[in-house]
Amino acid sequence: MISLLSFFEDVRAKSSSADGPQDEAKRAAADAVLAQVEPGMTLGLGTGSTVDFFLQALAQRTRDGLQVQGVPTSSQTERRAKELGIPLLGEGEFRRVKNQLCVDGADRVDLAGRLIKGGGGALLREKLVATHSSQVCILVDPSKLVSVFDSTFPLPVECLDFGVEDTLEKIRRLGCEVTLRDSSGGGRLRTDNGNVIADCVFHQIADPVATELRLNAIPGIVEVGIFSDLLDLLVVGFPDGTSLTCSTKELAR
Ligand code: 5RP
Repeated sequence: MISLLSFFEDVRAKSSSADGPQDEAKRAAADAVLAQVEPGMTLGLGTGSTVDFFLQALAQRTRDGLQVQGVPTSSQTERRAKELGIPLLGEGEFRRVKNQLCVDGADRVDLAGRLIKGGGGALLREKLVATHSSQVCILVDPSKLVSVFDSTFPLPVECLDFGVEDTLEKIRRLGCEVTLRDSSGGGRLRTDNGNVIADCVFHQIADPVATELRLNAIPGIVEVGIFSDLLDLLVVGFPDGTSLTCSTKELAR
């Protein structure tokens, strides 16, 4: 298993001297990943505020003549990409074309390069699009890096609404506190797939792979927000506009 320990230490050392607004850190990560985008690429487009900076930068490049095609991971990203004029592949083409690069954010990244995703409720399509991509690049600010997944961010789990109380009871038996996510407009949040999100607070997730497997074995769970073995490139932006990039493929060599 890879370890990002020395990269995390570099990020910590740099964070202490790089002051500025959090949005600048997200923008710096987004600008840095743009260098990976080549003409003609098919791109998985993630969801969230960090990805939004990438969409804005990508749109500028497409206006300057870069030709790419995007595959959105949510209706939110689809709307935003259309608004910005980024060309998108039709839904039917998803299976035919493998994305060359998927660019997404994350809620947490651990020392083994595993991710917690789903803060924006788009984890199912994000996982589908990431697994359908040759390379997965994750953009974060330094606050997202952790040694171990813990209670500072609840693990999102997408569940069928049908029989959900029973599903939640089974999730609780794994030793966490569970609540169903509400939407900002009131009422229960519905994902793009018509499901609900259970936010699961674990004191610690010592073995994320085992936890992902255990959760996925519970009937009624559609997908779990733990992404193991999917990260290829991690880009951390800093509030002073700089960034650091780590290739997990190089670490594995
Ligand atoms: C959405 C996600 C996002 O990538 C994650 O929540 C990070 O979002 P942000 O960039 O806004 O912090 O997983 O489902």
